[in-house]
Amino acid sequence: MSIILAPSILGGPFSNMEKIIKDFDQSDANYIHLDVMDGDFVPNLTFGPKFISDIRKYTNKTFDVHLMINRVDKFLQDYIDAGSDIITFHIEIDEDIERNLQYIKSKGLKSGLAIKPNTDWNTITPFIDLIDQALVMTVEPGFGGQSFMNNQLLKVKEIKKLSQDNNLALDIGVDGGVDNITGPLCINAGANILIAGSYLFKQENLIDATNELNKNFHNV
Ligand code: DX5
Ligand code: ZN
Repeated sequence: MSIILAPSILGGPFSNMEKIIKDFDQSDANYIHLDVMDGDFVPNLTFGPKFISDIRKYTNKTFDVHLMINRVDKFLQDYIDAGSDIITFHIEIDEDIERNLQYIKSKGLKSGLAIKPNTDWNTITPFIDLIDQALVMTVEPGFGGQSFMNNQLLKVKEIKKLSQDNNLALDIGVDGGVDNITGPLCINAGANILIAGSYLFKQENLIDATNELNKNFHNV
């Protein structure tokens, strides 16, 4: 499985997003992770489809859209039209999960299911043939800058085993508190997509920091 660093823009100032996206565009990162929050599924609000389509013009990198919203079915088409490449939503929402996944796939996008820390990994098992990636939340979704939850590494291992047992090559993402120390732990547990927000924005130069972290992860 190839290792992919997906920088999350949530850790940066939204007022400076043109520069941030252009920096990530110049960096070695393959994906850009976009956190959509509705103030309902999670206790925070970020942005919607217009913002995504506005920043789409600054890069051709893969937009890895993480929907932390309840009304996925209502808004899916808007996020597809906005220029998403991968759409991940949460297994915990009270909706027809299969139908949403099928819709995403039918439009030619990659699909994913995200799992909150207290949700059993097994809940995604019925849908593994319909997803390209499983996203293990290593913090409670809603905010950047939280501490990595070590106890989620077991979930990564279980999903890796699930993927292997079914002869699938599921991408396994980890999201929350990922840095130069916790990232390698995730890779060793079986994760290959590493989402990092605040760690990158705390460094002096965003492009250098992204390239360095990417190199670090590829050397694990
Ligand atoms: C949290 C978001 C994460 C967040 C990660 O709800 O899904 O993508 O941006 O940020 P850090 O790396 O700061 O934990
Ligand atoms: Zn996220």
